[in-house]
Amino acid sequence: MYQRIAIITGASSGIGKSFIELLARDNGEYFKTPFDEIWAVARRAEALDEIASSLDSVRIIPVVADLSDDSGIKIIEDKLKAEEPKVGLLINSAGMGVKGRFMDKPAKALDDTVSINCSALSCLIRITAPYMKQNGSAHSKIINIASSAGFLPQPGFACYAASKAYVISFSRAMSIELKPYGIDVMAVCPGPVATDFQRRATDGKETDFNDWRKNFVIDPVKLSVKSLKASVKGKKMFVYPFSQKLLHLASKIVPVSWILAFESKAVKD
Ligand SMILES: NC(=O)c1ccc[n+]([C@@H]2O[C@H](COP(=O)([O-])OP(=O)(O)OC[C@H]3O[C@@H](n4cnc5c(N)ncnc54)[C@H](OP(=O)(O)O)[C@@H]3O)[C@@H](O)[C@H]2O)c1
Repeated sequence: MYQRIAIITGASSGIGKSFIELLARDNGEYFKTPFDEIWAVARRAEALDEIASSLDSVRIIPVVADLSDDSGIKIIEDKLKAEEPKVGLLINSAGMGVKGRFMDKPAKALDDTVSINCSALSCLIRITAPYMKQNGSAHSKIINIASSAGFLPQPGFACYAASKAYVISFSRAMSIELKPYGIDVMAVCPGPVATDFQRRATDGKETDFNDWRKNFVIDPVKLSVKSLKASVKGKKMFVYPFSQKLLHLASKIVPVSWILAFESKAVKD
């Protein structure tokens, strides 16, 4: 009998970790059939082990993989081939960004941003989708964590914003291409979330959002709950909270040149 599993990247902290904790407690609110295993993917083995040992309602399988290069994808691909599970859910939450002027940032960090946020996310869908195809009415789900940063170009965070525009566009296209196989794809577009992300994006200089964005920071657990509910409803794009819905609307009606003029004042060295 095959195992029914969920795969969650970015599982060692923040939004990915919140998803795991919610799914471990799920009593049929989100998924009628519970998962036999959750594959928790990230680089930090210790953090994954800690999560696995703190949750005993479902088997958490730590999968230590660096998604910035092909070797990380291969680890997951080999495990899928070896175990041939049924994948009911894939959440692509692994992601990074580096704040500051593009030309001042190390090439490796910029390359990694594109590799993790775009290439790894796409490759994971390609290698996982064959194990997600459904025959019955219960759809499999792919949730890609994009960002409201993907709505507009962002001087001072250019590579990250462009990478998230890719995630939004790619997710929308996949939601059409994978529909015949019973796989629903949804992009999640939050504004600032209270995780380690900002600290990492600023090389530890800023532990929290400290500009105007600080008024819109949301809790990762709340975001995960709302995202799972939206995914269950079959939504293709979930923008949260309301402030980001307004930003989304503005990005469609306000000329980009005006927004760029405003944003250029906020570029930091
Ligand atoms: N926080 C926000 O304000 C915000 C807003 C909008 C969208 N997002 C998006 O939300 C997602 C989750 O971020 P978060 O806020 O939860 O930040 P976080 O706490 O820093 O989590 C990032 C996750 O990505 C994993 N990761 C980073 N580099 C990796 C690599 N090379 N290989 C494998 N895994 C890697 C990290 O694990 P390891 O370090 O253990 O590898 C960690 O689990 C990201 O895609 C981010 O762009 C965040």
